[in-house]
Amino acid sequence: MKKTILITGGAGFIGSHVVRLFVNKYSDYKIVNLDKLTYAGNLENLSDVENAENYIFEKGDIVDKDFIEQIFEKYNFDGVIHLAAESHVDRSITNPMEFIMTNVVGTVNLLNAAKNIWKGNEDGKLFYHVSTDEVYGSLGNTGLFLETTSYDPQSPYSSSKASSDHFVRAYGNTYGMPYVISNCSNNYGPNQFPEKLLPLFINNIKHSKSLPVYGDGLFTRDWLYVVDHARAIDVIYHEGRNAETYNIGGFNEWTNIDLIKVMCKQMDEFLGNPDGTAEGLITYVTDRPGHDKRYAIDATKLKNELGWEPSLQFEEGLKKTIKWYLENEEWMENITSGEYQKYYLEQYG
Ligand code: NAD
Ligand code: TYD
Repeated sequence: MKKTILITGGAGFIGSHVVRLFVNKYSDYKIVNLDKLTYAGNLENLSDVENAENYIFEKGDIVDKDFIEQIFEKYNFDGVIHLAAESHVDRSITNPMEFIMTNVVGTVNLLNAAKNIWKGNEDGKLFYHVSTDEVYGSLGNTGLFLETTSYDPQSPYSSSKASSDHFVRAYGNTYGMPYVISNCSNNYGPNQFPEKLLPLFINNIKHSKSLPVYGDGLFTRDWLYVVDHARAIDVIYHEGRNAETYNIGGFNEWTNIDLIKVMCKQMDEFLGNPDGTAEGLITYVTDRPGHDKRYAIDATKLKNELGWEPSLQFEEGLKKTIKWYLENEEWMENITSGEYQKYYLEQYG
């Protein structure tokens, strides 16, 4: 069955893994990757599939309504997998408006374009909105996020994602838009921009720079290998039920400091340094304002309904991740020049 699918944000971290999986697995689909190529978007992430016959790249901004309408008219998409977003909590604290524009206005532009072009012909169409567990807010020491947990976003980032989730559901409810939403926990793996915890710390250890741990380091996150997230998106896109939400997670909770210590140990082994070298770089710094204490996902619905489970144990995934960053120095060098230096100075002094 031939399908034309729009993947937004395909040059970013998770998007590039989703594009790769779809291009390689579905040779009869046409995959259109639409990306603005912000600081976080990098076509190098897709160099292995850029010449595939079933792959097309379109550079553009989802906030640009006219451009989005033209793209929908040009391709007549059967489905949309929407990942394009501003995704970093710290940046949302310094510049919330950018998050409202891309995450909320951009999502509504896509919904409008899909609604107008699919009107009266919604059969077989799907708007898949990729979201985050951060919309549920912060947990205490116990409990897990379920699909039915009330939204309680605490940061400008999570508020913008929560808002976009609400708009997707509203379009389903009001206009009959076929949709599915997934809310995933923290991803890690190759191609993540080094503003997020793991790639930032791997890169800092390599250059013997300090590791800025926010607050007491006792914040908890659930971590999932990015390829497993892409696998989940594939399963949900093809087998998820209309108007449903699926939580995606790794069944893998860590406090930041424990995770950092495991990573430091592995880094010492990889670099051939004496045990404890990387840990010596840990520096406790001022906490992130409004820092969510704990996220933990219950992904049982996805497991029971669609048979998805994470394929990798965490320590194995972490090893693969570190190895990738160490073997792809050029990738790291290319994106840590210029603007990145400015961001680093502003964020960490
Ligand atoms: P990312 O920041 O690495 O990539 C975002 C991509 O979107 C980039 O390629 C960027 O160029 C593109 N983009 C940004 N603004 C755009 C615009 N206005 N128009 C077109 N393209 C634009 O993000 P990521 O970590 O890959 O996250 C992808 C999606 O998954 C996001 O929606 C995010 O909320 C969600 N998510 C991320 C995580 C995580 O741990 N990273 C976890 C759960 C959900
Ligand atoms: P991050 O990768 O920014 O993801 P998120 O905020 O979406 O969970 O951060 C993961 C955790 O690591 C979070 O609790 C904040 C913490 N953190 C630090 O302690 N220091 C840092 O320099 C960064 C970037 C994050």
